[in-house]
Amino acid sequence: MTLKELAGHTVQRFVHVYGRQPRWIAAAPGRVNIIGEHTDYNGGFVLPMAIERYTVIAADRPVRDKNQIQFDSTFCNKPATLDLARPLKPFPKGSWVNYPAGVVAGFLARGLNPGSFDAVIHSTVPLGAGLSSSAALEVATATLLETITDRKLDPVEKALLCQKAEHDYAGMPCGIMDQFMSIMGRENHVLLLDCRSLKPELVPMTDPSVAVLIVNTNVKHELTYSEYSTRRKQCETAAKILGVPSLRDATPDALKFAKGKMDKVIFRRTRHVISEIERTVHAAEGIRASNWPAVGQLMYASHHSLRDDYEVSCKELDAVVEIAESIGLKGGMIGCRMTGAGFAGCAVALVKTDAIDAISKKLAADYRKKTGIEAIIFVSRPAAGAMVIKSNGPSSSSVRMSSSARLSVPA
Ligand code: GLA
Repeated sequence: MTLKELAGHTVQRFVHVYGRQPRWIAAAPGRVNIIGEHTDYNGGFVLPMAIERYTVIAADRPVRDKNQIQFDSTFCNKPATLDLARPLKPFPKGSWVNYPAGVVAGFLARGLNPGSFDAVIHSTVPLGAGLSSSAALEVATATLLETITDRKLDPVEKALLCQKAEHDYAGMPCGIMDQFMSIMGRENHVLLLDCRSLKPELVPMTDPSVAVLIVNTNVKHELTYSEYSTRRKQCETAAKILGVPSLRDATPDALKFAKGKMDKVIFRRTRHVISEIERTVHAAEGIRASNWPAVGQLMYASHHSLRDDYEVSCKELDAVVEIAESIGLKGGMIGCRMTGAGFAGCAVALVKTDAIDAISKKLAADYRKKTGIEAIIFVSRPAAGAMVIKSNGPSSSSVRMSSSARLSVPA
């Protein structure tokens, strides 16, 4: 489904639910991380790209003002209501409405009250698959609120506001990568983000002979939240032992030196972070130079490190990477690794464009044979970041949609 079609469906639902046309429409993409996993909360580098899968929010003032925000969504049959007359607080853990509610709370905390509105949320970002459906929802909400309040936030402030929503409302102590990427996405570019300085650098990825394939293992694990926080704490412990503010400042030599002072698990976690930061910088150089075999090798090394040292993979993700390794460069497979927090979700692969069909078939068949599960496989080009699609607010009444923001190969 193209973004235009998704926006069209969202409007249709809005008209169906509320009986009138929406006044504002905003969208934000999911992301896939090419490399740089579990490095963002260590002040390291990440190298993600926005994908051609979006979350769209359409909204309008209510017919009768009740000092409420109503979110209808395709995630859930029951709409959720935020009462603006009382202080906002998180909904029960696990509720999807915590993401937009946390963003509304962030705006209110800055004295930016959007006032009452009715909204409909619709998305093509697969939920809970490691493609940042939560960041897409937060950033789409923030983009909508910028339009309603007629106040554009600085992109870094916007990313931090959305990250805080996820920490305080959804209870996930995430890093900054996903929110940043959803805001800063640019067609035909990946983003090298220094998570210590928050300085972004767009790296062109325009070689038509190479495509990004996303393989959804279709498994979900409950482990992500608890294991993610455990990993964060282990990294903080390691930084303390090494006497550095964050693992970004740790070196392989310092780690070797401190080996005796660390338990084995902390040692392996640290080894992953230090080596992954280095791989990420090299991968960006490889992309700039179109040195695809080098990028592919770094992706495999990243996966092995996440599997063995950081222990955030699972047997289904390992199965995808093993199949990719068996296809090899000769079969058009450049490199493959798990992407996102891990424990389930998606793998990302770089493939030769002319081998997309053959590789997709082989991956699907071998994965089915190994696991008994159907994978969902799709291609995405690096996509545009968050945008306002319709704004009838005080500042403009324009329609700004990137016409080339389309899905190239649907799932
Ligand atoms: C999740 C978090 C990110 C990042 C990745 C792992 O997606 O939201 O901040 O830490 O996991 O790289």
